[in-house]
Amino acid sequence: MPNQDTIWERFLSPVIRLFINEEELRQYSRSIDWEQAGEAFRQPNVTIPEYYSSQNFHGITGGYLTSGAAVTYDPITQYVLPPNEKVVRQAAIDAIAGKPRRILDLGCGTGSTTLLLKQAFPQAEVIGLDLSPYMLVRAQDKANKAGLDIQWVHGNAENTGFTADSFDLVTASLLFHETPPNVSQAILTECFCLLKAGGEVIILDGNQKTLRNLEWLNNVFEEPYIRDFAAGNLDAWLGKAGFDAIETHDVWVIQQVSRGMKPLRVSKQEIAEDNITEAWIPAPGY
Ligand SMILES: C[S@@+](CC[C@H](N)C(=O)[O-])C[C@H]1O[C@@H](n2cnc3c(N)ncnc32)[C@H](O)[C@@H]1O
Repeated sequence: MPNQDTIWERFLSPVIRLFINEEELRQYSRSIDWEQAGEAFRQPNVTIPEYYSSQNFHGITGGYLTSGAAVTYDPITQYVLPPNEKVVRQAAIDAIAGKPRRILDLGCGTGSTTLLLKQAFPQAEVIGLDLSPYMLVRAQDKANKAGLDIQWVHGNAENTGFTADSFDLVTASLLFHETPPNVSQAILTECFCLLKAGGEVIILDGNQKTLRNLEWLNNVFEEPYIRDFAAGNLDAWLGKAGFDAIETHDVWVIQQVSRGMKPLRVSKQEIAEDNITEAWIPAPGY
């Protein structure tokens, strides 16, 4: 059952429903065999973590492991990212300093940011990864309609299975307010491992400072981990994962974009302390 105490359930849902064409959504939902389409993505070796399967997100029973989440995510999200969704997502794209040739978007959901990444870097190989096969079905449908060649992968961002040192850019948009801090830290460690030396990580999410100061914002949606996220500090988490050149800037007060770079080299002392055997070689052209 949806949590009736959220601001979404009490105030926003009835208003935003006026702007959403529910019949169109029902038709879209019926136009896809979600179980069959989801099966095409589902990887039997991917274990769904307890923090994910045990909670409702956005008031949807079953969270992201339902086709309903995939159908309703975009129509709602367009109204809840002030000043508007395009501006907020573009802030993440604008924060990218290099010209990545291989990009991984973690917790890609319905692929809204992933599509923008491919549009910004058409020559790049772009991969979107998510734990929900249903979100991937929706993402692939959007990419097909936009004529964008993107690979969609069912996986856990904590342990993706991709080769170390193989990406120029790893991104995560609107993921970390939905993961417990220890999981966010594990995901950042995985980002560090996956990036080539000199590669970038870009994280778009709720503004931790603002969420701490405006308590009511934490009650907009049913978000089980948002208070833990707000209490944390993404810059510190990036530092702990090993990143350099860390910076976070506000995006219209409510959101933030953080950036970090995998160091080009490590000092002899760091090599000794961390038991690293080789200094990283800068990624060519990066
Ligand atoms: C709020 S949505 C954000 C989706 C998309 N990145 C966006 O910007 O709209 C969070 C997404 O993260 C996914 N997710 C949560 N934990 C994950 C994990 N450990 N590994 C991969 N995906 C995860 C969920 O399935 C969901 O699609």
